[in-house]
Amino acid sequence: MKDFEKEVISRIQVLPDDKRLRKAAAEFMLASTEPKYSYNFNWQGRPIIQYPQDIVAMQELIWEVRPDLIVETGIAHGGSLIFSASMLAQLDLCDAIKTGRTIDPKKSGRKVVGIDIDIRAHNRVAIEAHPMASRIQMIEGSSIDPVVVDQVRHVAKSYDRILVCLDSNHTHAHVLAELEAYAPLTSLGSYCVVFDTIIEDMSADMFPDRPWGPGNNPKTAVCEYLKTHPEFEIEKSIQHKLLITVAPDGFLRRID
Ligand SMILES: C[S@@+](CC[C@H](N)C(=O)[O-])C[C@H]1O[C@@H](n2cnc3c(N)ncnc32)[C@H](O)[C@@H]1O
Repeated sequence: MKDFEKEVISRIQVLPDDKRLRKAAAEFMLASTEPKYSYNFNWQGRPIIQYPQDIVAMQELIWEVRPDLIVETGIAHGGSLIFSASMLAQLDLCDAIKTGRTIDPKKSGRKVVGIDIDIRAHNRVAIEAHPMASRIQMIEGSSIDPVVVDQVRHVAKSYDRILVCLDSNHTHAHVLAELEAYAPLTSLGSYCVVFDTIIEDMSADMFPDRPWGPGNNPKTAVCEYLKTHPEFEIEKSIQHKLLITVAPDGFLRRID
């Protein structure tokens, strides 16, 4: 390992002990939630409801895992779908450079499948008109509807390296059902990323019009799921380096 990489790893290892920095990050997370900071960004022209830090973390994971399929629950305006598709396009481009062969996106197979209970017509039109559209498959329906789960499982059969992202309804019961349905699709060494585990660390009055809150959210679902699924472990180094993330304890790496 190069000296620079060693230095980065040792700097990240001590970040959990840096109380001042952790406090500042926690305060930022709290202060930025109410003004809907996560709604401020676009990826290649489509609104992406993520913190920039988490987008960078996803870029690192996709580059490391080199998935051929990404499964995402929660489409909204399509920004995260376009992001995933654009990363898959980059992987194809790199393969093409390495092998000297041109890769037709329609034939390469690398794609993202997104599921949403309500794909608004204007979002669908914009996603389908995007240059990344050929890599995107959208399924409308509840992500825990057995018919939808079967559809996704059917798609996944044709792929070897699969990465999963859960970002739809954030209640405990829903995320636990999503984990049961989709986490098993995660290939060895890849990740199942569970967004909005941060809700556990927020105050109850921050979600007055939502069914989720402290005690009932993606983090409680992750804790429950991991009790019986030792094939996953939380990759803590990701949240340690990010400091600012909506997914603390939500980066689950498949180790078995
Ligand atoms: C936070 S947004 C997704 C944001 C998107 N991943 C991004 O980064 O831009 C949550 C989405 O989940 C969808 N949703 C809510 N309940 C759902 C369910 N039961 N099944 C599938 N999608 C659901 C909502 O319609 C909404 O579009």
